[in-house]
Amino acid sequence: MDAGGAGIDELRAQALAALAEADGAEARADWRAHWLGRGDGRLTLRLRALGDAPREERAALGKELNELKALLEREFGAREEDARTRAVAALSGEAAPDVTLPGRPWPAGRLHPVTQTLNDCVAVFAEMGFRTFEGPEVEWAAYNFDAVRIPEDHPARDMWDTIWIDTLIKGERRMLLRTHTSPNQIRAMERSEPPVRVIVPGKCYRQEATDATHEWMLTQLEGLAVDEGVRMSDLKGTLYAFARRLFGEDREIIFHHSYFPFVEPGVEMAIDCFLCRADGSACRTCHGTGWIEVLGAGMVHPEIIENAGYDSARHTGFAFGVGIERVAMLRWGIEDIRHFYQNDLRFLRQF
Ligand code: DAH
Repeated sequence: MDAGGAGIDELRAQALAALAEADGAEARADWRAHWLGRGDGRLTLRLRALGDAPREERAALGKELNELKALLEREFGAREEDARTRAVAALSGEAAPDVTLPGRPWPAGRLHPVTQTLNDCVAVFAEMGFRTFEGPEVEWAAYNFDAVRIPEDHPARDMWDTIWIDTLIKGERRMLLRTHTSPNQIRAMERSEPPVRVIVPGKCYRQEATDATHEWMLTQLEGLAVDEGVRMSDLKGTLYAFARRLFGEDREIIFHHSYFPFVEPGVEMAIDCFLCRADGSACRTCHGTGWIEVLGAGMVHPEIIENAGYDSARHTGFAFGVGIERVAMLRWGIEDIRHFYQNDLRFLRQF
């Protein structure tokens, strides 16, 4: 019917209606092929058939068809342009976002409370000039015990219930999971000349029946300073500064005598209870004593200085060991050490 010809007006109406309905890039491309396609577009065919029209109508009909063709091309171009503008607007977010929609939660991880506390302790000592040193978690008994004056069969070995590695070397168990970070006093001294000023953070392991204050895995921070003329007052000053930085500027500290095989004299350091301020109440943290034990320390035993190859007549030193879980418990009033390693997010998200 087309070749003979719908009227121009009818053709125009049909084409424009179809264009209005052509939704999307593909539909518009189809429309263009159908109406304006070079081979067999409907308008193309009509123009090609002009020769069949009566001679006297040919010129007017040709003009009208060409005008229609131009119109359809313009309309098509406008639609394309419109679609492009809208696509760009959508990309650049100009289509206004709905600010009333609920936001998408963005789950953020965080550092474990023990890691946070360890980092804070390390930062305090780093400011005082201590370098961080690390040693192995699987350790030789020779380092963990013998080198720090805990010989086999010495009752002091019972202070550390040990998790041994089953591998036998020359018929003996000689490797263990380190029970403390103290063997790194030796390792650090072996690797450098005095003066030595290091801290050694790390995990330690003990064969424990766990309870509110004992876990089989724990984190320690060992400290060691060796030089000519290092004295007990240097130890006290250093630990004083540490306690005040971590627990508050108005802290008081006290040293009690204690025994550790690797130091002489050995002490335990306590800080005044910042929870009850020794007000005589039945404080759960200090048990009413007004003092909280926070670490072990002392003057490095001369034999240990010698074990590391230094001259104990020239060099003296102090050492200390901080239990990081204990510090974290004090800091946040956590009453059971087992919370730390149960991976309960309800606990961990509080820090
Ligand atoms: N290594 C000891 C422990 O695990 C802690 C300790 C006490 C370390 C006194 C020291 C120290 O360096 O001087 O219980």
